[in-house]
Amino acid sequence: MKKKIVKYNKFLSYESDSLKMEEVSLVGIAKAIKTPVYCYSVSQIKYNFKELKKSFSNCKPLICYAVKANFNKNIIKILGQLGAGADVVSIGELKQCLKNGISKKKIVFSGVGKTSEEIKFAVKNQIKQINVESEEELQEVIEICKKLKKKIDVGLRVNPNVDAQTHKKISTGRFEDKFGIPQTKIVSIFQKFRNNGYVDINCVSIHIGSQIRSLLPFKLAFKKLRNLILNLQKKSFTLKSIDIGGGVGIVYNDKKDKIFTISNYAKLIEKYFTDFKTQIILEPGRFLVGESGVILSKVIRIKKGENKTFLIIDAGMNNFIRPSLYSSDHQIFPVKNKKTKQKYEVVGPICESSDIFKKNFLMSELKQNDLIVILSTGAYGSCMSSRYNLRNEAKEVLIEGKNFFGI
Ligand code: LLP
Repeated sequence: MKKKIVKYNKFLSYESDSLKMEEVSLVGIAKAIKTPVYCYSVSQIKYNFKELKKSFSNCKPLICYAVKANFNKNIIKILGQLGAGADVVSIGELKQCLKNGISKKKIVFSGVGKTSEEIKFAVKNQIKQINVESEEELQEVIEICKKLKKKIDVGLRVNPNVDAQTHKKISTGRFEDKFGIPQTKIVSIFQKFRNNGYVDINCVSIHIGSQIRSLLPFKLAFKKLRNLILNLQKKSFTLKSIDIGGGVGIVYNDKKDKIFTISNYAKLIEKYFTDFKTQIILEPGRFLVGESGVILSKVIRIKKGENKTFLIIDAGMNNFIRPSLYSSDHQIFPVKNKKTKQKYEVVGPICESSDIFKKNFLMSELKQNDLIVILSTGAYGSCMSSRYNLRNEAKEVLIEGKNFFGI
């Protein structure tokens, strides 16, 4: 009998009504590994990286994977093998990258609150650059370089005062946000620290927010950054690189979200920056790994309430906090598709009313121990999990072709 295959995306499909990631049955994964478990499609990650890379035609940007999106060591290894560098925000992420094959000369250290211990470690390891977020931090980097008798390249993170038009909790480019140095102060810092002997300030960086769905905020920020660079050039400062940050949104709900194409994003970058003939750095997180991941979870029980039916699953907000924190709407699929449908409120077991994954949701009728997946959880999923309610963190597994590994 011919198998019926219904594809959701390139690497997730129903074969005879049973869900597979790449060539691996998710029923099989749940037999092998205790749920909830994060499953990542390696081919999807590779595909995303290659798509981003090939969108550029006039320059070859250095793609520094924003490790904060997912610090799984196997994911870092895979991206490193494809030539990615890394954008890190803590000594933990920095060590994770050094241990897992990312060249130190491709690592950018961002973040508003680097400690002196973290700065020392970065300087000692001679990473590519530190993106500083204040004049105060810059002073500290210089003091540390003096003591260690070492130099380091520095980028200034510019706050361009642009609203990224995304969720307010992940907006980072307005003056009211704690991030970056106000654009008005950048030139004077370049001037003040010219020829200081310890740090070479030779990059400007921006990152205006995350899950950005329209090119307009990027355009506004790029315009401002471009003018700033022209201004710096007039004062004879030369840049080694321009760091565009991350922020590219992904489709979480294919019925609601509409996002620009990655090639239009690349075109916009090329339009504003390639004539400077300077290295372009990108810091994508979500774009590279978001779509690659699902959480595979089991139904604990179905509870009939007064006016709704609760589908209680074994993944909770401790495993995946995005819906509770940002009201994000992730698609949920049954692992075994059935014809009969039922309306559910999909909830976790945590003792908080915000532990909800989906409200008023019509899906295949399920029973105890049936499996579901929560989609597009590859970014800011496992890395934001906690032991709340003294629950275990979910295991993680990578899937490629017929194989799975990395548990
Ligand atoms: N570069 C910097 C300096 C960043 O702060 C971030 C993200 C990125 C790059 C990567 O941004 P992406 O390409 O992933 O949008 N937990 C939130 C997202 C927080 C993003 C923080 N910074 C969420 O789940 O939506």
